[in-house]
Amino acid sequence: MKSLVFCLLLVIGVQGIELICNYITVDWKDGAYICDAVNFTATKRYLEVDSLHGEHIENKTNFDVTAIRIDSQTAEYMPWGFDKFFPNMTDYAIIESKLEKIQRSDLENLTFLKVLSLNDNEINQLLADTFDDMTNLEYLSLSKNKIKELPDNVFRALTNLQGLYIDSNELSEISFKVLENNTMLKELALNNNQLEYINSEIFGHLVNLEYVNLSSNKCIGIFITSIKHFGSARIKEILKLNCNNVEKKFEQCKEDYEKLRFHYNLLLLEEKNRKYKSDAG
Ligand SMILES: *[C@@H]1O[C@H](CO)[C@@H](O)[C@H](O)[C@H]1NC(C)=O
Ligand SMILES: *[C@@H]1O[C@H](CO)[C@@H](O)[C@H](O)[C@H]1NC(C)=O
Ligand SMILES: *[C@@H]1O[C@H](CO)[C@@H](O)[C@H](O)[C@H]1NC(C)=O
Ligand SMILES: *[C@@H]1O[C@H](CO)[C@@H](O)[C@H](O)[C@H]1NC(C)=O
Ligand SMILES: *[C@@H]1O[C@H](CO)[C@@H](O)[C@H](O)[C@H]1NC(C)=O
Ligand SMILES: *[C@@H]1O[C@H](CO)[C@@H](O)[C@H](O)[C@H]1NC(C)=O
Repeated sequence: MKSLVFCLLLVIGVQGIELICNYITVDWKDGAYICDAVNFTATKRYLEVDSLHGEHIENKTNFDVTAIRIDSQTAEYMPWGFDKFFPNMTDYAIIESKLEKIQRSDLENLTFLKVLSLNDNEINQLLADTFDDMTNLEYLSLSKNKIKELPDNVFRALTNLQGLYIDSNELSEISFKVLENNTMLKELALNNNQLEYINSEIFGHLVNLEYVNLSSNKCIGIFITSIKHFGSARIKEILKLNCNNVEKKFEQCKEDYEKLRFHYNLLLLEEKNRKYKSDAG
């Protein structure tokens, strides 16, 4: 019987994995009760958590757990099955754990998530349908990965998204369509990528946007706070900076920056721009 079950599992391809939780309450998020995974290793696809260990804090149960954190562990693939143990989880973080691959099926039963943090990992590719089931998601962090491009439709289902952080990746271009359906967006971090140009149409309908960071890109070294104050029409003007080769075209960039500074003194020029200046001079 046992071997039959084992064979069946092999056929389906899902294998069991153990989860050890260190349960803690954290100060952020009104004393949220979280499972902090210890000694966690997932180096294959289709691993499903089928046994749970760890001692709850007095009077707490699995139902109280609202966040799972896999921090500084090994999770090259996204493990499955957390939702079965923690039906009330809203936050899921796999941080600094060598996460390399994610796909839509990894997230299919986590449609209730509000926060997904996958920062400081090795993700280098996102398929267009990856987040299609995540309609309740409010914050998505993909900071510090190796993402080179974003499919136009990759965020299409995230109509409740308020914060999107893709800073410190390897993006060299971004389509003006990519945020078309994310009208709730308040914060957008694209800083520290390889962007040379941004079509300002990207902000056209983001009426709730309050914070954008485009600093430390190839030539878009501007950091904008309270973008609201500018209004879309002005944003258009601001972002038409296309300096493919910073070294050679520095004079042109500088002119653009000076113009910006003159017109919009809320714009802050940051370290990178100063660096461009010293590189060029
Ligand atoms: C984690 O692994 C280390 C080394 O194998 C071991 O000493 C420790 O007891 C483990 N911790 C838990 C909570 O299992
Ligand atoms: C746990 O519940 C018991 C019974 O309701 C209560 O007396 C005790 O103070 C609770 N402990 C904590 C840490 O909340
Ligand atoms: C989602 O739930 C279904 C039904 O319980 C299950 O067959 C499937 O393996 C689950 N997928 C994940 C990624 O946990
Ligand atoms: C947690 O989940 C249980 C069962 O799914 C539900 O009855 C309960 O109301 C939930 N609690 C919270 C705080 O969401
Ligand atoms: C935005 O949503 C509409 C309607 O669902 C869809 O047709 C369109 O392709 C979406 N835009 C993007 C960039 O995915
Ligand atoms: C904007 O991005 C730059 C470069 O990555 C960073 O140094 C700076 O702290 C960011 N600014 C804010 C307000 O987050």
